[in-house]
Amino acid sequence: MSVGDRPALSLADFERTAQPRLDPVAYHYYAGGADDERLLRENEAAWGRAALHPRVLRGVDAPSLDCTVLGCPLPMPVLVAPMAYQRMIHPDGEVAMAAGTSAVGGGLVLSSMSTTDMEEVAAASSGPVFFQLYVYDDPAIVRELVARVEAAGCQALVLTVDLPVVGNRHRDEVHQFTLREGMSIQCLTAEGPMPMPDEGESGLVTFFRRHLKRDLDWDDVAWLRSITRLPIVLKGVLRADDAARAVDAGASAICVSNHGGRQLDAAPATFDVLPAVVDAVAGRAEVWVDGGIRRGTDIVKAIAAGATCTLIGRPFAWALASDGADGVASAWAILRRELAIDLALCGCAGIDAISRDLLFPPQP
Ligand SMILES: Cc1cc2nc3c(=O)[nH]c(=O)nc-3n(C[C@H](O)[C@H](O)[C@H](O)COP(=O)(O)O)c2cc1C
Repeated sequence: MSVGDRPALSLADFERTAQPRLDPVAYHYYAGGADDERLLRENEAAWGRAALHPRVLRGVDAPSLDCTVLGCPLPMPVLVAPMAYQRMIHPDGEVAMAAGTSAVGGGLVLSSMSTTDMEEVAAASSGPVFFQLYVYDDPAIVRELVARVEAAGCQALVLTVDLPVVGNRHRDEVHQFTLREGMSIQCLTAEGPMPMPDEGESGLVTFFRRHLKRDLDWDDVAWLRSITRLPIVLKGVLRADDAARAVDAGASAICVSNHGGRQLDAAPATFDVLPAVVDAVAGRAEVWVDGGIRRGTDIVKAIAAGATCTLIGRPFAWALASDGADGVASAWAILRRELAIDLALCGCAGIDAISRDLLFPPQP
């Protein structure tokens, strides 16, 4: 994967190579956030504000990046975040994302709004596949989806809870976001693919308004818990009280997320709330985190704050758009190299050696 006449060196390089290849509707759908995009910037900035307090003379030569997430072995504490409509940015879409991820045996979370059937993605994956769920108004659709997820061999259900309505995304309105012909989504509605937008809104808003359950509450979590044997992850939690309640409701993991700044623009950056959520969960469940994670050092900071695992979204999308499965594999290789260097520089022999005292200024 090259940028001009040199190889890609960091995740930031992929957006530069992807943008000229994409039509504006797709580019802005992926790049954008809500309102003024304050949180989009703030997510990245918050990781950048924290420093790492390195240990010396620990005899660390080649640190191990291996870890487990919900019992599944992973080559590093990173998953590809669920992102809708990947065939919009590359013809091989989710299958290429899975193939590039499988080059390192990595794991991914497949979106409910995938443009490829989950069975095909699972077949293309050598690592774990977790399925992200949006809850439809019609419970029969949800039951059918969950049964398919289990039969396809996905290892967990990731229930997204931060989308009672779609955030106020100006870029999608400007570009009249809707899916191109033939890019039907795997979700099961009588209406088939995404409808044409209603007056004054994007196609996405029209789809969500017509088909998804807008009054989702804790009873729905309990119902979901009762219809599946898979572990449930609640994605989109930002508060300690909600995290504690999620564990009480049977969640095996919480994903601290603000949807990459695409929902409530005034919400806090994920790094800023992560320690409080970790403390509230108190080891009763895993804590995952996403939003603006771009460097190996960000991953170390997340684990130091108490996360089990991080999710990365847009950079993998830009890598996919730039060069399909090879681009995705090259993004993973960059991240692995960075994390190995950063662990060695922090005096950590492995992921288990990362602890909160590595954060500077010190966190309580
Ligand atoms: C284009 C795009 C589509 C997304 N689609 C979904 C989705 O279908 N389901 C979901 O739970 N989150 C979705 N997200 C949110 C991501 O899973 C993740 O929370 C966020 O992108 C992480 O931030 P990052 O992109 O800064 O790494 C989407 C994000 C983007 C950028």
